[in-house]
Amino acid sequence: MSKATVVANPNIAFVKYWGKIDETLNLPANPSLSMNLAALTTVTTVEFRPGLRVDAVTIDDRPAVGESFDRVVAHLGRVRSLAGFSARACVVSRNDFPAGTGLASSASAFAALSLAATRAAGLDLDERALSRLARLGSGSACRSVPAGFSLWEGDSDGTSFARQVAGRGHWDLVDVVAIVAYEHKRVGSHSGHGLASTSPLHEARLAAVPGWLKAILRGIRDRDLSAIGPCMEADALAMHGVMMTSVPSLLYWTPATVSVLQAVRSWREEGLRVYFSLDAGPNVHCLCESADALEIEQRLRNLAGVQDVLVSGVGDGVRPVAYHLF
Ligand code: DP6
Repeated sequence: MSKATVVANPNIAFVKYWGKIDETLNLPANPSLSMNLAALTTVTTVEFRPGLRVDAVTIDDRPAVGESFDRVVAHLGRVRSLAGFSARACVVSRNDFPAGTGLASSASAFAALSLAATRAAGLDLDERALSRLARLGSGSACRSVPAGFSLWEGDSDGTSFARQVAGRGHWDLVDVVAIVAYEHKRVGSHSGHGLASTSPLHEARLAAVPGWLKAILRGIRDRDLSAIGPCMEADALAMHGVMMTSVPSLLYWTPATVSVLQAVRSWREEGLRVYFSLDAGPNVHCLCESADALEIEQRLRNLAGVQDVLVSGVGDGVRPVAYHLF
């Protein structure tokens, strides 16, 4: 047994994963598609130590407690059963972006943990097996395993994983993220999924997804932002419609969120090619081509309520790094 340090990027979904058909296995109610974000990283080191009595987990320099700790330990348990040993592990993980603000920290967290823990356990999983394993930790994490743009399909444990539909060099898309809040969300996506089916809009969204997915896949193939954008916005709004109308209702938006959505639409009317998306949080992802990224960043920085702006191109898949965190 040894120690491994890896890096993973979170992803932004153009077609969202919202609702599950199996909560234990994280099998999604619908296929989803995303782009990895190069500028945001989670770096994780795992070392199995035979002398340890319990797993020790540090996230962003603090000991993990409660649900975060339990989810990491459950994931280490999956790796232990694959490897056939019971040694406990020391896990140190750091994000260079704010966790819990709709920037998908669980995606990069579980993609990184899956690779670091399997490597430290002496296992060498192929991309598909690694993506399946990451899915068991957090559904969206399976899409952070392949590089570039990933499609997650499949409705059983064996078939449900993400695969690359285009590499990172295929297209210079940029995600310019308007941060309007840093607070931790009250209801995270992990607990929110279970509410999807209580919304009268859930089935309607699921019926619309195949059409959006088809158009977005074609748009990625043809590098055609105007083909992707309207479908991406429609699905983000549909997902938030489901969230808002579930029981209990989830409302992630703040007034600043709405200001950014309206600004993006008015900039588009002026001719700027930019489209929005949102995850389970108030921050707004503005997708554009690299030639327009600086202009959009500057415009966002000048909007009232925008506290910061992150700019990211297309990211790699999960990968080992040469150094260790501890
Ligand atoms: C809104 O992957 O965080 O970001 O599988 O329960 O860990 P669990 O959920 P998670 O859900 C992500 C939801 C989303 C949309 C998306 O990324 O597709």
